[in-house]
Amino acid sequence: MKAITINNNYTQCNIPEKIFNELEGTVKEETKRAFDVLTARTGAGNDFLGWIDLPDSIDEQLITKIQNDVNRLKDKVDVVVAIGIGGSYLGAKAIVEALKPASKETGYPELIFAGCNLNGLYISNLLKLLDDKDYCVIVISKSGTTTEPAISFRLLKQHLENKYGTVEAASRIIAITDGVKGTLHGIATANGYSSYVIPDNVGGRFSVLTPVGLVPVAFAGYDIRSLIEGAKVMRKICLNYNEDNVAVKYAFIRHCLHQYKYNVEVFVNYLDHLNYISEWWKQLYGESEGKDEKGIFPASVSFTTDLHSLGQFIQGGSRLLYETVLNVENIAKDVTVPFVDDDVDGLNYIAGKSIHEVNKTAMQATIEAHSQDGCVPNIIINVPEINEFYLGQLLYMFEFACGISGYMFNVNPFNQPDVEAYKKNMFRLLGKK
Ligand code: PA5
Repeated sequence: MKAITINNNYTQCNIPEKIFNELEGTVKEETKRAFDVLTARTGAGNDFLGWIDLPDSIDEQLITKIQNDVNRLKDKVDVVVAIGIGGSYLGAKAIVEALKPASKETGYPELIFAGCNLNGLYISNLLKLLDDKDYCVIVISKSGTTTEPAISFRLLKQHLENKYGTVEAASRIIAITDGVKGTLHGIATANGYSSYVIPDNVGGRFSVLTPVGLVPVAFAGYDIRSLIEGAKVMRKICLNYNEDNVAVKYAFIRHCLHQYKYNVEVFVNYLDHLNYISEWWKQLYGESEGKDEKGIFPASVSFTTDLHSLGQFIQGGSRLLYETVLNVENIAKDVTVPFVDDDVDGLNYIAGKSIHEVNKTAMQATIEAHSQDGCVPNIIINVPEINEFYLGQLLYMFEFACGISGYMFNVNPFNQPDVEAYKKNMFRLLGKK
């Protein structure tokens, strides 16, 4: 069975050999120390480590309940609106966007996300669209009080009730929230919504393998069992400490680069339907490590598109960044460049090659240009293909590496205290009591 792998491309110009040799030993020790803290569950935030065991602890009852809800509603609706923000949105969005282009007609409703912004135009257009659609709503919020999803839910609940009446509306709402407390829990209980619990010991950005990710992904028609299987395989790999363990290696390389001088990590994909994998990754690392004036700033680009915008900076601007490249070996569908007799556009030299082959060549050329001429270190994550199984592996691997890496920074990777600052100001300015 294949698994995702990692290799790195640093050269003399990225980290001089002498410095690398000095760094290597101490960073290796640090990586092992952080791995031990994570797996012994003795570090800061250890009451939020439920995600480590999720792939192996998801029970059949949960999968059956999800499938029953999907079967009950899928033929009744054209659209499913999933309401949530941050960790209550990005995982499902990343998976669904990543799988969509390779999917056959699934016969499942269209999944639309809401509650992830305060964009009046977006919500206004969505409400208008829903006037003419049959739809249901999945509302996701661990705290049950986050402003963006709460506003969207108020509007959509009202819209649903006006359209279908309160009883039918209640049967079209699924709530995913805390098991005992919070405003959403109260509303769900009072109205008898089909509800799912987000485990107490799993924080938002680590919750993709809880109902937070599984329910919307199943509603979109994708195989959640295979997603969980992939995560299971990766869990086993991650928990076995060795220097080739992909999560250990990723955390180790990041910290070697960071300790030398690199403060910005640019996550690179070459397939733009993976842009939300980048967004999910940015939240995971940004919220987990960026505190106590520490961390590596997570940024992202999509090549080759952004080679025509940010490529210049990466190749030749301030030398503060390194890249982590997602190398997808195979794609499900492709097109070949045709041969034309007159060769008027001069493209016959690539006639017969598929677009993905050309894309892979562009990737190879860019890695060479950035890491050698541009002195931008490159970490390469190799993924055999994008399907549920490998996405399960990939997401779990990044979560595990994030736990190790956060402890290497000596921060609590599982809280986000500084997110509150803007909220306090916003509530004061809006006159919240
Ligand atoms: O990772 C996190 O904890 C956050 O990004 C939350 O997921 C986000 O703020 C949404 O919170 P909630 O699910 O409570 O609405």
